[in-house]
Amino acid sequence: MDQKKTWSSSLLFIMACVGSAVGLGNLWKFPYIAYENGGGAFVLVYLLCIVVMGLPILLAELIIGREARSNAFEAVSKLSGGKHFWKLLSFLCLFSPFILLSFYSVIAGWSLDYFYNAITGNLTHLTFETTGPHFGAFVSNPTKQISYHTIIMLLTAGVIMKGVKGIEKAIEVLMPFFGIIILTLSVITLSKYGAGKTLNFLFEFDFSKLTTKGILEALGHAFFTLSIGLGAMIIYGAYFPKEHSIIRAGIWITVLDTLVAFCACIMIYPIIFGTGMEVKESASILFTTLSVELHHLPGGQYVCALFYLLVAFAALSSTLSLLELVTSYVEDRFKLSRLKGTMLSTFIIWLFGICSALSNGGNEFFTSLKVMDRLDYILSNWSLPIGAFLISLFCGWVLSEEIKSRELGLKRDDPRYIIFNFLIRYAAPALMMVIFVSQLVN
Ligand code: PHE
Repeated sequence: MDQKKTWSSSLLFIMACVGSAVGLGNLWKFPYIAYENGGGAFVLVYLLCIVVMGLPILLAELIIGREARSNAFEAVSKLSGGKHFWKLLSFLCLFSPFILLSFYSVIAGWSLDYFYNAITGNLTHLTFETTGPHFGAFVSNPTKQISYHTIIMLLTAGVIMKGVKGIEKAIEVLMPFFGIIILTLSVITLSKYGAGKTLNFLFEFDFSKLTTKGILEALGHAFFTLSIGLGAMIIYGAYFPKEHSIIRAGIWITVLDTLVAFCACIMIYPIIFGTGMEVKESASILFTTLSVELHHLPGGQYVCALFYLLVAFAALSSTLSLLELVTSYVEDRFKLSRLKGTMLSTFIIWLFGICSALSNGGNEFFTSLKVMDRLDYILSNWSLPIGAFLISLFCGWVLSEEIKSRELGLKRDDPRYIIFNFLIRYAAPALMMVIFVSQLVN
C-alpha cells in the first residue's frame, strides 16, 4: 500500500468513519428490528452490546489498521506473523464486504428510485392500499433493479477510483447534507407528532418481550451498525496519521452512529404510532407505508423526497468503505493501478449483486433461493459476529501490550487502558461465546 495515503485531518477521518457506520442499518434496520423485538429491553441489550463489545472492537480494528498500514486482508497476516489460524480472519475481511456490498447496493438503489419518483410527484397518488403492490412491482422489475444497482456501484467506483482523496471529497459533501436533512426531518416529525410515545417505547424495559433470537439480533446489529467485524475500520484506520487520537475518534463514531439510529426512530415511530397504522411488513416499511405517510406532512412531496435522499446519502457513504476494502486488496494483491483495481472489484461485485437484485421477484430462480435474505442472514448472524469475535481475540491476545498502549496513546497502568484490555481480552469474547452457544442450543 502506498504509505503516503493518509486522511488530511482527524475530522475528515471521523466523518469518513461515521459515514461508513451510518447507513441503511440506522435508518432502515434499527427501527424495524427494535420494533419487532418490542422496544425497550431490546434497545437496552443493543446499547450494552455497543458499549461492551462494539466500541472496544471498533478501537481494536483502528489499532490493527494503523499499526499494519496495509489492506485489511494483509494487516491480519502481517501482525500475526502469517499464522494459519488467522487466515480465517483475513478471509472474512474480504468475503464479508464482498457479500455485503453486493446486496447493500441493491437496497441503496431503491432509495434513488424513491427519491426520483417523490421529487417528480410520482408517489403522490399512492395510498396505504396501493403502496405495498407498488413496491412489490418495483422490486420485481428486473430492468429497474439492475439499473439502480449499476448506478450505485458506478457512483461508488467513481469515488474509490480516486483513492483516499476521493473519499474525502465525497464525504465533505455527503455528511453535512446528511446532518442538515436528518435534523430538518426530525424537527418536522417532532413538531407534528411529538416524541412521547417513541421515547416510551424505546425506554420502557419489558424483559418478557426479549428472546434469545432478539439478543443475537441486537449483537449482530451492533456490529453491523458500527461497520465492524469485516475490516472496514481496519482499512480506514490504515490511513489515519499517527499523531491523532484513536480513542477520541472511536467515541465520536460510536456516539454519532447511535444518535442517528435514535433520530431515525424519532422520525419513523411517531408516524407509526400517531397514525395507528398497521405494521404488517416491517422490513419494507421504509419504502411502503412511510412513503404514503410522509406525503401527509406539510410540504409532503418534498419532505418525502428529502427523506429518500437522506437514505441514499447514508447508503453511499457506507458503500465507499466496502468497495475500498475490496479494492485495496485487489490493488495490492494483483499489483494493479488504483483505476484497474477499482474496475475489477466493482465489476465482480456488481455481477454477483445481480443475483440479489433479481431475488425479489425479478427472476424465478433467484427469488426461490431468496438470495438477498439469505446473504443478509449469513452476514448479520454469522460472518460479522465471527469476524468481530476473532478481531477481539486477535487484539486481546496476539497484539503486544506495547503496540496497543502506543496506538491508544495510554500508559499500561492507565485505568482506561486496563478497562479496554479487559473488555477486549475477556468480556467481549466471553459474552459472544455465551450468545453463540445459546443460539446453537436454541
Ligand atoms: N454500518 C453500515 C450501516 O449501518 C453498514 C456497513 C457495515 C457498512 C460494514 C460498511 C461496513 O448501514
